[in-house]
Amino acid sequence: MNQSPIGIFDSGIGGLTGVKAIQAALPFERIIYFGDTARVPYGPKSQVTIRKYASDDTAMLMRYQPKIIIVACNTVSALALDVVEKSCGNVPVTGVLKAGARLAAEGTRNNRIGVIGTQATVSSNAYGLAINQLNPDIEVISQACPLFVPLAEEGFIDHPATKLIAAQYLAEITKEGIDTLVLGCTHYPILRKVIEETVGPDIRIIDSAEAVAFRTRELLTQSGLLTSSMKASAPHLLVSDLPQKFSMLYQLFMDSEMPDVELVDV
Ligand code: DGL
Repeated sequence: MNQSPIGIFDSGIGGLTGVKAIQAALPFERIIYFGDTARVPYGPKSQVTIRKYASDDTAMLMRYQPKIIIVACNTVSALALDVVEKSCGNVPVTGVLKAGARLAAEGTRNNRIGVIGTQATVSSNAYGLAINQLNPDIEVISQACPLFVPLAEEGFIDHPATKLIAAQYLAEITKEGIDTLVLGCTHYPILRKVIEETVGPDIRIIDSAEAVAFRTRELLTQSGLLTSSMKASAPHLLVSDLPQKFSMLYQLFMDSEMPDVELVDV
């Protein structure tokens, strides 16, 4: 079991921010990544559809017998974590949302936290609930930023269009006196530079993908499931459409060679 891979999934390339964080925290673990590129974006879809996708994504990863499943998608973490848990028997599951909420709740000093995410995540108020469960005195202000997902998928990391849209989306939330801003969608850290410049230096950014990497290390350590390997290996990458495009974006975000990407049927 210890040598089994860590399974990670997202609707598309967003979960690569999780892969990067896992590689930094646990460099010798094998990773199997699934990006559901045929059906991205999840954020504007209904709960019924998102729950169906979550079940399919989990079944896909289960074929590779992972020792843990990381839901590197806030939208699935917000609306369908129970579906993932049910679909994978006794394999442990951890999602980005709880990890991000915990880091934010521990980090705020003025008890005012901003959360940006997909329409589905924001409408579910899952961050508000998770943060208030940890500390009921914290005020959570949320804003959906749906155009950030296609901008990230297009590789518009530092593009004038991204800056314009960020200024529009973040104008109100930055006037709310928040000291912490949660990137409550794993696609958003790809645009982190622009988001940071837009909100200014006084607001601390929380990356939910980084938060889940700490949590994964904790879980694997507690359950004695850390690998004994001392050799790093490249992640096994699976997508449901356009492997070539994924490979190019991977190279761009991960600063690596163009990897092999396998096309799979969900
Ligand atoms: N990256 C995902 C999230 O964290 C989903 C984005 C989308 O497909 O809309 O919410």
